[in-house]
Amino acid sequence: MKIAVIGPGAMGLMLAARLKQAGSDVVLLDYRAERAAQINENQVALDHPEGSERLAIQVTADPAALGGVDLAVVCTKAYHTQEVARTLRAHLAQTARALTLQNGAENVETLVEALGPARVLGGITSEGATLLRPGHARHAGRGQTHIGPAQGPVDAFCQEVVDLLIAAGFDTKGVEGVQNLIWTKLVINVGINSLTAILEVPNGRLLELPPAGKVMAAAVAEAVSVGQAMGVKFLHQDMLRAVQEVAHRTEANISSMLQDIRASRRTEVSYINGAVVRQGEQVGVPTPVNQTLTQLVQAREAGYLDQ
Ligand code: PAF
Repeated sequence: MKIAVIGPGAMGLMLAARLKQAGSDVVLLDYRAERAAQINENQVALDHPEGSERLAIQVTADPAALGGVDLAVVCTKAYHTQEVARTLRAHLAQTARALTLQNGAENVETLVEALGPARVLGGITSEGATLLRPGHARHAGRGQTHIGPAQGPVDAFCQEVVDLLIAAGFDTKGVEGVQNLIWTKLVINVGINSLTAILEVPNGRLLELPPAGKVMAAAVAEAVSVGQAMGVKFLHQDMLRAVQEVAHRTEANISSMLQDIRASRRTEVSYINGAVVRQGEQVGVPTPVNQTLTQLVQAREAGYLDQ
């Protein structure tokens, strides 16, 4: 199976490197030609607990490279998904499929609109990756990966992708009902990311600040109500406890949203707390706490982004 990994962020680099190490035919797509050329020149570097490696992975900004692949793994920020979906529709072969492993709630839908449900897989991963510099990532921690088709049961193609990921060293399972996974991960991000970004604290600190804990509980309760109204079956009975456990397990982590704020980058808040607000409007569930969190993070972004 020939694979394109789209987006040379921490997750994209780590995934491309691990697949390449396992002998897969991988190309990495970057929409910035200059950075693609730079990574090609220096090669992809991956640090991990056992050492460090350089891998000769082809990096290109030419979307025509998608024409020859069987699978495109989308690892971009959620605010690039619309553009990625248009590119995939234009260049991906009819028999090829796309898999999204991004943060946020609406990526599967966006890809399905462009490619149709039969050509889309979605998933979540708790593998930890950190971007050190362009083309250089650290595989920080091991986790679990779950993927499944946008519609219907795990089929032969999905199983082939599961086997490929297992061969690349990822603990992966194929599952039916991918929205349940994506919403479970979304609620965890809803409870942690925006609060850590607003308060400028590592994840674990949220558990030591009772007022922050109350906002977390309210944001999580809204997101769970929206998900349930949409028919989502969460993987944990008590989602607040699940969020608290993740905050505890990752207590020293700087959340991806706080990392974005610190680096003056656009955040994914519109696709996390903002997605809860949008979906809440669709199903008639009020979401004032998520709306406020979204606006507070956007107010921080306004300090450095061109509006
Ligand atoms: O986005 C993140 O930072 C992570 O998904 C999580 C789980 C909140 C840990 O930092």
